[in-house]
Amino acid sequence: MIIAVDGPTASGKGTIAKALARHFGLPHLDTGLLYRAVGYQVVLVDGDPDNAADALAATAFADDLLDEPALRSEATGALASRVSVHPEVRAALLTRQRLFADQPGGAVLDGRDIATVIAPHADAKLFVTASIAARALRRYLEMRKRGEDVSRDAITADLAARDARDTARAAAPLRRAEDAELLDTSALTPEAAVAAAVALVQKQAHPN
Ligand code: C5P
Repeated sequence: MIIAVDGPTASGKGTIAKALARHFGLPHLDTGLLYRAVGYQVVLVDGDPDNAADALAATAFADDLLDEPALRSEATGALASRVSVHPEVRAALLTRQRLFADQPGGAVLDGRDIATVIAPHADAKLFVTASIAARALRRYLEMRKRGEDVSRDAITADLAARDARDTARAAAPLRRAEDAELLDTSALTPEAAVAAAVALVQKQAHPN
């Protein structure tokens, strides 16, 4: 079974995808991490994330970069959003994602274009979303817990900029696939969101 989980930043899609993988005993790929690695690598070699050739060269990052904790930072997320607009970068990362999706037994992938581009043939598709206020609050609490000094306004502005870039870009923009189930997590605890996701996947994969 292939499960596609898409949605904007801080919607809860990562937590949901990991929990679905555990629940159904499937391997999981956080595709955002691949774009984060490209964004991180391009700056590491003094390249320009807005330059397609520099960003494309950075797709040849070493695999152990995926374990780098700095990939998880907000700054790297913003770089990822910039390199991900280049069609060349998306094309270079496509085969790796497709092979993961199509491995025997199936997989869970989360990102922005899993149901629309990477695995339109997925057995179950979720589009996870939440209000910008709910997403900003989650991100704020997470960052405070890590001891980072941030303002809610700055986080809201950053999320809005990232949403705008991800939905407005020409190459594989963030959008809900027609046959994806919508899951709004604004008012849900992580446990309730996961339970709702499991039920939606079961409904799609076994409609009777
Ligand atoms: O999901 P995450 O916040 O880690 O993704 C970082 C950035 O990578 C996103 O803002 C988006 O621009 C890009 N991305 C993408 N396609 C994906 C996953 C992530 O364009 N499948």
